[in-house]
This record gives sequence, structure tokens and C-alpha cells, in this order.
Amino acid sequence: MALRKIVLQGDEILKKKCRPVTEFNDRLHTLLDDMTDTLIDSGGVGLAAPQVGVLRRVCVVMNEDEEILELVNPEIIYTEGEQTGLEGCLSVPGKYGEVTRPNFVRVRAQDRDGNWFEAEDEGLTARCFCHEIEHLDGHLFVEHTDHLLTEEELEEYIRRQEEEEN
Ligand code: NI
Repeated sequence: MALRKIVLQGDEILKKKCRPVTEFNDRLHTLLDDMTDTLIDSGGVGLAAPQVGVLRRVCVVMNEDEEILELVNPEIIYTEGEQTGLEGCLSVPGKYGEVTRPNFVRVRAQDRDGNWFEAEDEGLTARCFCHEIEHLDGHLFVEHTDHLLTEEELEEYIRRQEEEEN
């Protein structure tokens, strides 16, 4: 198990466009293994390569069944609907903001050996696909919200959500 250090907002690396992966070698496999370890250790649901300082089009996403999806050179090929909800990022610790994303997303990507496949999901995982793939073009979720919640506002937001559900 190898953990990589997560790059934080303010670092220029997070604003750069990542290059496609062209070699599906041991170096890529080690990167993917380390990104999964780092994601699980951090308690997040998605991590993109630039967040560990690697400017390649690679990300890992944990779906709601807690399965890890490895996405190499991913592209969003279809979206449907809309959802608005709270979003955070391991590179922007302790800050959350409301972001509107598609409710359903289909992604085309390569696996660690270079085979193309498609993955699709809704809700939180669809949100995560959008968030992680955006990282590969140098964008952060904070660009989609004009207000980041403080800890107090976050508690209030969660309390209100729970009231609505009851
Ligand atoms: Ni992020």
C-alpha cells in the first residue's frame, strides 16, 4: 500500500490540462494502485491524477456499491437530467458548495490495459464522474459555485436536508 500526497487548491498543478495516457505499463498500474489506496485512506469518493501531482488523464471513482472504477482517458459521452447538491474535493478540504450537475452520466474510458469500455451511473456517482473528469482539464468544483459553506452553514444545510426527507 502506497499513499500519495494530495495536492491542495492554490497549487498550479490543479489548473493544468492533463495529457492522455499512451502507455499502459507498470508505471500506470502503480499510479492506479496508489490512487485507490490514497482515495480509500482519505475517505473520499473520487481522485484524479493531478491531485497527486501527475498530469495524466487518469482518475478513480468509488461507486455507491463501494467498487472502485479506474478510468483512463475518460470522456463523458452522454448526460441526462439535472441534480443540485453539495460537493467537496480532497484538494479543497473542509469546504463545500452547491453545484448543479447532470443526474445521469455515461462515460467512455480505457482500463489499465488499454481496453475501451463504457460505464454509467446516476446521482452521487454521476456527480463524481463530472467532478473527476473536470480535474483532468484543470478545473475545480469551486468554479461552479459562488458561495462556499462554512462549517456552521454546512451543519444547517444537512439539518434542513434531513427535515425535508422526514
Ligand atoms: Ni476533486
